[in-house]
Amino acid sequence: MNIRPFADQDLADIVALFTDSVHQIASQSYTPEQLATWAPRSPDLEQWRSRLSGVKTLVAESRGVLAGFISFTSAGHIEFLFTAPSFSRRGVASLLYKAASQRLAARGVTKLTTDASLEARPFFKYQGFKVVGEQTVEREGVKFRRFSMSGSSGAENRHSYD
Ligand SMILES: CC(C)(COP(=O)(O)OP(=O)(O)OC[C@H]1O[C@@H](n2cnc3c(N)ncnc32)[C@H](O)[C@@H]1OP(=O)(O)O)[C@@H](O)C(=O)NCCC(=O)NCCS
Repeated sequence: MNIRPFADQDLADIVALFTDSVHQIASQSYTPEQLATWAPRSPDLEQWRSRLSGVKTLVAESRGVLAGFISFTSAGHIEFLFTAPSFSRRGVASLLYKAASQRLAARGVTKLTTDASLEARPFFKYQGFKVVGEQTVEREGVKFRRFSMSGSSGAENRHSYD
């Protein structure tokens, strides 16, 4: 498993991974209407290009196949963390999280935050994050529950990709 910075040519692969991950992994916690709003089947690549332009993104790949990605701000807010369904529960998100938190810690940022989905909350809890608030956000008239969580770099569990 190789962790490297996102490159422009990864855009379509990242968006496809995001769409698959939401529809397959997060489908256990959300309704079809919520999934379709969160991850439209025909994603807007230009909107994604602009979303990713304001954050740092690292990708995990295995033999040239994209396994996951993490995006975070310079202030330590994790915007996106997604694992491809075929790589689920094999330590990919843990590796990505560790790489991001190490990069942030090297710049003096040790407090990390995220707005976790129902599906991601156990992962962040595993990494030592605590829920600091619960929100209901509305997108295109569809409501989503999510959790504001915070943690610190160095508190993460060790979980190596095998
Ligand atoms: C959340 C997500 C990124 C986790 O990715 P992953 O690569 O499978 O996570 P890891 O293998 O590193 O998991 C490490 C540990 O976190 C915990 N964990 C991860 N997913 C979990 C789940 N669905 N339920 C319970 N615990 C979970 C477990 O303790 C796991 O260790 P274990 O597999 O030995 O039990 C992935 O499930 C995903 O992409 N989900 C859908 C999209 C989503 O909601 N993304 C986050 C948006 S905020």
